[in-house]
Amino acid sequence: MRVHVSVPATSANLGPGFDALGLAWALHNEVVLSEAEGVSVAIEGEGAARLPRTADNMVARGVKLAYDATGRPFKGCALACTNRVPSARGLGSSAAAWVGGLVAGNALLGAPLTKDALLSLAARAEGHPDNVAAAIFGGLTVSCVSGATVTAVPLPVPASLRWVVLIPEVTNATADARAILPTSVPHADAVFNVQRVALLLASLWAGRPAALGVAFEDRLHEPYRLRLFPWMSDVVKAARAAGALGCVLSGAGPSLLAVVAGDGAPVAAAMEAVLRRAGIAGAARALDVDTSGARSRVIG
Ligand code: HSE
Repeated sequence: MRVHVSVPATSANLGPGFDALGLAWALHNEVVLSEAEGVSVAIEGEGAARLPRTADNMVARGVKLAYDATGRPFKGCALACTNRVPSARGLGSSAAAWVGGLVAGNALLGAPLTKDALLSLAARAEGHPDNVAAAIFGGLTVSCVSGATVTAVPLPVPASLRWVVLIPEVTNATADARAILPTSVPHADAVFNVQRVALLLASLWAGRPAALGVAFEDRLHEPYRLRLFPWMSDVVKAARAAGALGCVLSGAGPSLLAVVAGDGAPVAAAMEAVLRRAGIAGAARALDVDTSGARSRVIG
């Protein structure tokens, strides 16, 4: 039996929702999985020259995780991965790998694990829940870790908003971008973020995009990560000046995400121009929201 899985790219945080919010994109990696003796991995597309093709491969580790969680012996697997999510750019490539492997392994086993069980496994493997929740459920997800359990709630996203992602041709390791964060923050900064993440969700829910103007501000991670991406402030200013409601780091960066109520093209052009002036290659693209999350089907 072979199964096919498609799994979306994701942006975590959305500004103030550090480690809590995620948004899934209509940009998908694909995985074809069958059982085998030993592990083999074929890779096309993003990261093909760099990613391991052994049992260390993150998709293969995800498959094994599904077997281990259900107590089924894992003897190996044959994987064919088609990668479209750029690696190490803050677009959830490692979440897509864990979730792709877990969902494929689960499908091959006859789907014994629920989405919530897959979420807890994926969040533990990834180290934070926001990208994996969006990759599993699609759309905008709010996730919360409580002990070993992760609770996630998917929310609708207003179709009137446009999302523009600036993807620089530089990479960033999430571990480095987390290591740069302080161990504690001032109480005032925590309050600042609580107000904004609540306003962000309320504005989306109530259909009040104008209120989003202040809702994307953050004091928990972006000010610290500016050291890694010194051009970020100018991109944000340019995106806002070109009409964006907000412009934030996508996950741990280096990609930047702008949300726009009208035409996204002037915002994309403004963001690209700043990056070019900073001497960094990269391109902006408009992305649609994926509303279904990872999907699996048996293909024979
Ligand atoms: N919430 C995580 C972080 C997302 O910002 O470190 C990483 O993609």
